[in-house]
Amino acid sequence: MAGGEGPVAGAAECREHLFKVLVIGELGVGKTSIIKRYVHQLFSQHYRATIGVDFALKVINWDSKTLVRLQLWDIAGQERFGNMTRVYYKEAVGAFVVFDVTRGSTFEAVSKWKHDLDSKVLLPNGSPIPAVLLANKCDQKKDGSQNPSQMDQFCREGGFVGWFETSAKDNINIDEAARFLVENILANYKTFPNEENDVGKPKLDLDPLKAESKSQCC
Ligand code: GTP
Ligand code: MG
Repeated sequence: MAGGEGPVAGAAECREHLFKVLVIGELGVGKTSIIKRYVHQLFSQHYRATIGVDFALKVINWDSKTLVRLQLWDIAGQERFGNMTRVYYKEAVGAFVVFDVTRGSTFEAVSKWKHDLDSKVLLPNGSPIPAVLLANKCDQKKDGSQNPSQMDQFCREGGFVGWFETSAKDNINIDEAARFLVENILANYKTFPNEENDVGKPKLDLDPLKAESKSQCC
């Protein structure tokens, strides 16, 4: 649920978090579309490849005492072999790895994206950041035959905290997947609340993030 800022009664008891979340996966799998649907409730059939990285901010009234700002980093699929990714990944506390159910090759690339992620960013305690696998474009005919129990096994073996079939087009499971990821991030945060995994201080010097959703090319 999106929410505004503004003064809150009993604010002393309120917690605010700013969490950096990466959205990664092959070219054209729907990363930007998922973010647009989640943040702006919009969808377009028109494909415009992301160049470098885009940003979006989603504010969630998590509960009566907790406000969560998700800083979504929409990383271009074509950035995979770029040199900038380590900078992009820095201080992230969660990730979505997206593939396109209509293109089996994008599922095959999921493990490479996950390894890349784990090699470039870790939680303060040295464990991988929670990553949720998104099987996007589930409104279309699948290419491949993974059934749910095979997907569960794939996630266990690949170190994903879970997976969801999503459709940015039909707005299927996107809020649910985001909620699940935030639950996992908050669970980690409770383990080391004073550590570096809350970017809410704010250490990231990214002026564009002050707006609801802005783009920046690197
Ligand atoms: P890059 O920025 O190049 O890495 O691509 P991306 O992963 O951001 O993909 P993008 O969101 O731009 O979507 C690519 C194409 O897939 C667009 O034409 C979208 O309209 C389409 N698309 C995205 N999500 C869905 C979906 O859930 N269902 C269907 N049918 N089409 C989708
Ligand atoms: Mg994109």
